[in-house]
Amino acid sequence: MPGPPMGWSSWNSFSNTVNAQIVMEQAKAMADTGLQKSGYQYVNIDEGWWLGKRDADGNIVVDPQAWPAMAAGETAGDMANIVRSIHKMGLKAGIYTDAGKDGCSMYPDLGPKVFGTGSEGHYEQDFLQFAKWGFDYVKVDWCGGDKENLDPAVQYAEIARAMQKAEKQTAHRLYFSLCEWGKQSPWTWAPHLRGVPANVWRTSGDIVDPIVASGEHKDRKVSFEKMLANFDQGIHPEAQHTGAYNDPDMMVIGMPGLTDAQNRVHMALWVVSGAPLLVGADLTKLTPDTVAMLTNSDLIGIDQDALGLQAVKVAETEKGLQVWSKVLTNPGARAVVLLNRTAAPAEMKVEWKDLGLANAEARVKNLWSGEELPSFGAYMVKVPAGDAVLVRVQGTEPEAVTYRPEASAAKTACRGCAVRFAKVAMHAGWARVQIAYTNPGRTLRYAELRVNGQGPTTIAFPATGTASGAVTVQTMLDRAEDGNVLTFSAPNDTTPSDALPSIQAILVR
Ligand code: GLA
Repeated sequence: MPGPPMGWSSWNSFSNTVNAQIVMEQAKAMADTGLQKSGYQYVNIDEGWWLGKRDADGNIVVDPQAWPAMAAGETAGDMANIVRSIHKMGLKAGIYTDAGKDGCSMYPDLGPKVFGTGSEGHYEQDFLQFAKWGFDYVKVDWCGGDKENLDPAVQYAEIARAMQKAEKQTAHRLYFSLCEWGKQSPWTWAPHLRGVPANVWRTSGDIVDPIVASGEHKDRKVSFEKMLANFDQGIHPEAQHTGAYNDPDMMVIGMPGLTDAQNRVHMALWVVSGAPLLVGADLTKLTPDTVAMLTNSDLIGIDQDALGLQAVKVAETEKGLQVWSKVLTNPGARAVVLLNRTAAPAEMKVEWKDLGLANAEARVKNLWSGEELPSFGAYMVKVPAGDAVLVRVQGTEPEAVTYRPEASAAKTACRGCAVRFAKVAMHAGWARVQIAYTNPGRTLRYAELRVNGQGPTTIAFPATGTASGAVTVQTMLDRAEDGNVLTFSAPNDTTPSDALPSIQAILVR
């Protein structure tokens, strides 16, 4: 299962004025700056690439000047040209549409105000077209859907089916970025859409605020406060696990408006969120410091960690002095952000018990200074106002408790049945549940997890063949007295071919 996507998107810096020349300059900068070598790979074309024109058969028609032929034998006005050029550089290409009839270009922006740039009424045709052009990634926005008061869960489910159909016809998979801004809690339905489930789903509005003056878009405002708000709104740890990620928006790191310290805070918060690392700045204008931070392998490693978990807030001793911790794959490893949201510098502290680690010596690496030191029981650091320190703690994991299911259903994959674990963990609060399973099928299978009858949250289980696999999720427990009851059941719309995976045991911490 892939980590959160890494790359660049045209929207933050170029709005709806994007064209082939801009895209290729950015792709080249992705290579030249070393971003590509560090794992950034998507070159995503956002709103503005077409002006809502279709031919008599309903096919999208694009401006041949904006999207010219780029090599011998190519025809101007064919989006396959830009995809080929991006692929030739070893990069991947992303495209954009809207779930409604109109796209977001109906609102004033840097480029022209146009209507009809959405895919509603053409879902199958458009997603087949994107796959045939060779795109690897598609972002599906919600401006038109919102204007028409459509139900996002319904529209995006139809889109997921259209994408699956396109995939069957072309053998080409589109990475699915769902952009509904968190209005109808997409983390509860986007990760398990039938057909092609969303890989990432937006959890809030845009960080970049278009400044519209006298009907014209004059500038792009980047605000530190909005970035912090998007981080807060992006935290839904129960919905996130490997391959399925909350998306607090494309980054504004390196754009005019943020200081170096604010850029660092932004990066720290995105990597502990396990958020997509999509740079929205103009890559040809990044400073060496910004490039160094974006390509820092410790930071990228935290974001891309194989468990795919999201940070949870583990302490806030005083309002605005927050400690966020992301559990990493290596036993005993945590990425910890000490975030000072107050107006004064503060001495901040994180205790191992807050991190769920044994009270023993741990190694702490300050990822800003690179300094690595042993520390016993806690770590203290002075954090300037409006700043953050990111550390990696390598401590000792306490023993996990293993639970076996109550019913014999665990032995075979079952449909319509539930696998129940009782008396789990005598504590309330966030717990990490590692689920040992097998899925002998060829596709993802799903289970709904209910804790003490509440929920559910849906978990995806990749195929394992004859081997066994493990998926780790975070879940909120609420019974400290007799323990919690965790039930895994097949989602309502489960078909015989993709029944519940066989769940053998859970390890809980
Ligand atoms: C919405 C999205 C943005 C961007 C613009 C394009 O606002 O949230 O990310 O795609 O539309 O118009």
